[in-house]
Amino acid sequence: MFHPLRVAEVRPLTDDSVTISFEVPEELRAAYRYRPGQHIAIRRQVAGAEVRRTYSLCDPVPADLLPAGPEAVPGSGPGDGPDSGPRRLRVGVRLVEDGEFSTYALKELLTGHVLDVMTPAGRFVLEPRPGRFAAVVGGSGITPVLSQIGTVLAREPRATFCLIRSDRTAASTMFLEEVADLKDRWPDRFHLVSALSREEQQAGLPSGRLDAERLTALLPALLPVLAVDGWYLCGPLGLVSAAEHALRTLGVPRSRVHQEIFHVDEVAAEAPAGPTAAAGPMSGGATVRATLDGRGGSWPSAGEESVLETVLRNRSDAPYACKGGVCGTCRAKLVSGEVRMDRNFALEPEETEAGYVLACQSHPLTPVVEVDFDA
Ligand code: FES
Repeated sequence: MFHPLRVAEVRPLTDDSVTISFEVPEELRAAYRYRPGQHIAIRRQVAGAEVRRTYSLCDPVPADLLPAGPEAVPGSGPGDGPDSGPRRLRVGVRLVEDGEFSTYALKELLTGHVLDVMTPAGRFVLEPRPGRFAAVVGGSGITPVLSQIGTVLAREPRATFCLIRSDRTAASTMFLEEVADLKDRWPDRFHLVSALSREEQQAGLPSGRLDAERLTALLPALLPVLAVDGWYLCGPLGLVSAAEHALRTLGVPRSRVHQEIFHVDEVAAEAPAGPTAAAGPMSGGATVRATLDGRGGSWPSAGEESVLETVLRNRSDAPYACKGGVCGTCRAKLVSGEVRMDRNFALEPEETEAGYVLACQSHPLTPVVEVDFDA
């Protein structure tokens, strides 16, 4: 659900990125509780059209605001009550070429402006627990991992974290100081390895891209790969795929690898999709039934529109952000019928096996398709 939030601060981070802090009024704090690694969607109207973008929350979650466990939901954990959530939310935004929101954020957005912000979502989450954790991140992919590291190391003295980050140059590296602070604070439990693709550096790895081959050779030299309890991969598709490939080559079980992709080139549309991806959509339209916020509805689909588009024409509160198969905001459970999912950069294999689909990428293959956004 979206709420209007006041911008408390826009602070330059690098030449091409800023952090935006939002003030959360007391009565909404419980709704904005988040888990380390989650994101928010921001929407704004541009020339009569709605633009939505998702950005990860970068600050650690204060100890008293963490839910009791992975299954806990806002309202069921410690700190309940009107003041039971964060007072501020902070995201990092990097300028994207021709990016409608990022250009606005860097050039026009000021303290005091008000933006519509969705309540936090996402399953790229690391709950504090004892163990050895590692992340491979590229560019702005540091953002959710920064929250994860700060939260897990502060909350769990028996946790360690190895961060392998890849950036173009030192000047373009987001959250350089915050990451350095983590090193100062937990020198024994936090290990940082930096790779710059376009610049030599005094410490860290030689310059050049981190591809699958390089990562396969590098990771075992840095840490006992098979003893890592959770791997967190975040950034552009190329780096995340390379790291995932390297971990598979090194024998890491899939269940220990979590990933979130930030940028997908349009040309990379041959993404992993569902098992029915090759089938053709219904030519004569279909009926889409959906449950959303406890209310059901049933509507005819038009042409080859996605399940999300059918629902959105009738329920403007249907959840989405990227409409590109990347953010996972439109996740729904397929209750009956079959769909063709065009691309999926957001759902884990366990989720597709359990019947979850991305509504923005799903097209009906059967006369009736039933989805549940609440599941
Ligand atoms: S809206 Fe982002 S994956 Fe569907």
